[in-house]
Amino acid sequence: MLRRCLAGGLALVYPADEGAYSEEGERSVWLMRLRDAALTDELLREIPKAELHIHIEGSLEPQMMFEIAARNGVRLRYGSVREVREAYDFADLQTFLDLYYEGTRVLLHERDFYELTFAYLQKATSQGVRHAEIFFDPQAHTDRGVAFETAITGIHRALLDGQRRLGVSSHLILCFLRHLSADEAAETMRRALPYKGQIVGVGLDSSEVGHPPEGFKAVFEEAARHGFHRVAHAGEEGPPEYIRQALDELGAERIDHGVRCVEDPGLVRRLRDEQVPLTVCPLSNVRLRVFPSVEEHPVKRMLGEGLCVTVNSDDPAYFGGYVADNYCAVRDGLGFAREDFRAVAENSFRASFLGEGEKKELLEVLASYFET
Ligand code: ADE
Ligand code: ZN
Repeated sequence: MLRRCLAGGLALVYPADEGAYSEEGERSVWLMRLRDAALTDELLREIPKAELHIHIEGSLEPQMMFEIAARNGVRLRYGSVREVREAYDFADLQTFLDLYYEGTRVLLHERDFYELTFAYLQKATSQGVRHAEIFFDPQAHTDRGVAFETAITGIHRALLDGQRRLGVSSHLILCFLRHLSADEAAETMRRALPYKGQIVGVGLDSSEVGHPPEGFKAVFEEAARHGFHRVAHAGEEGPPEYIRQALDELGAERIDHGVRCVEDPGLVRRLRDEQVPLTVCPLSNVRLRVFPSVEEHPVKRMLGEGLCVTVNSDDPAYFGGYVADNYCAVRDGLGFAREDFRAVAENSFRASFLGEGEKKELLEVLASYFET
């Protein structure tokens, strides 16, 4: 069902490890840069694309954090927007998450969730996003005494307005926080059921190492019984084994991040053969020190090896860029070429949870963009 992606054919165009580590490779990257001088920022922003990995709470820009904090009477640890930005120097996933959860404290009312979500959709559409599948972390709110209903109602109303006013379609994915217990995840699932029609799927996020996917098998089975799609963060900081567990124990249809698969050739073969979509977030991985730089990020190699790669932003307010900024980063750092961008954009629509008719329409829009 989801396992038909385009990336495979690209291996013929750009061999698996081209440009990555050898001197000869560096020359190739340089040549590709010359060849793709026409790939301007504007062009990359205009590519019709889907974003499949974005945490709505991670799109809270410092400016908005201050505005909402002021109107809600929430005291922040920082004195200014500049101070907040200065704090965005992360050692790893956990140091980021500590700030991310701190930021969510300003979100109290339905209006806050609405404004957060609508602002993301405005930004995303200005970067070519035609369809977004958006994560939200209800436990980050319910644990602070904010009702599930408050969060989802505000987000959902913004998604409807996004479709009506901006022409962007969207789906919502409820993520369970893996640093909390499986019982708490099950309770969150129960709270979500009255809103079943507003949620397309479930995911698994937060602190990865030490919280393997297998612990959430039962709640993912329950989600499947209710007809939800299933995705999971795996292989971001955690080992390749977590990717296998996400597939085999949780029935994940997409893997969020998945970049540590490159350490395990057998797993890479499996992901390629099954065309499991990977929602890769290059700027996030550099900011969270999974890789030292975009130049050393494996996303180009992964695409060359025939994996179903998509490029996404993760937590754009914290990691220095929205989805098209990530496209620009892989152009500059890895020499992504026109056909690479075409492949990741095609993959983004194919790997989405849209219906076949909607996918076909968006793929036609994309094809005409590249053919004119
Ligand atoms: N929650 C928000 N961003 C995340 C990330 N990059 N990994 C895991 N959980 C997250
Ligand atoms: Zn994420």
